[in-house]
Amino acid sequence: MKALHILLASVILIAVCAVGCDYKFITPDEGDPIDPEEPISFSEEVEPIWTTQSCTNCHNGSGLFSLKQGEAYQSLINNNLLDLENADNSLIVKVPGTSGLHADYTYVSNQKLIITTWIEQGAEDN
Ligand code: HEC
Repeated sequence: MKALHILLASVILIAVCAVGCDYKFITPDEGDPIDPEEPISFSEEVEPIWTTQSCTNCHNGSGLFSLKQGEAYQSLINNNLLDLENADNSLIVKVPGTSGLHADYTYVSNQKLIITTWIEQGAEDN
């Protein structure tokens, strides 16, 4: 009986260790680097991000401001979502990934960098 206990304890110990020691190292995908000197196109590079990240599920103009292509620029201006002095402080940059409704909606790869660089370049409707 005692031997069985020891055997059981050993099995559990090995199992716990096997699970606990299985670390996975995931390298974040930073995306391609952005050249701040290269003009970023709002319509081709910035605007599609909000559709890709499903922001337009809610931000589609019915109730909430629209981040759909062709409508997003006006929304950014009308709702004061850009901070031209401090791009990182812009609501359109800060809000995604925060708790509540935006917890599961965020930017990936170099998307945030594309948006902040575009803001730093003057946030043109280009
Ligand atoms: C599940 C619905 C939903 C999704 C998806 C969603 N939002 Fe929102 N968002 C809201 C609601 C509701 C508000 C208004 C209430 C609030 O400020 O939380 C809002 C507000 C905002 C604001 C303004 C906050 C302020 O203080 O004025 C920004 C900026 C914003 N969302 C950006 C985004 C972006 C970018 C995405 C995609 C990455 C996104 N949202 C996805 C529901 C959503």
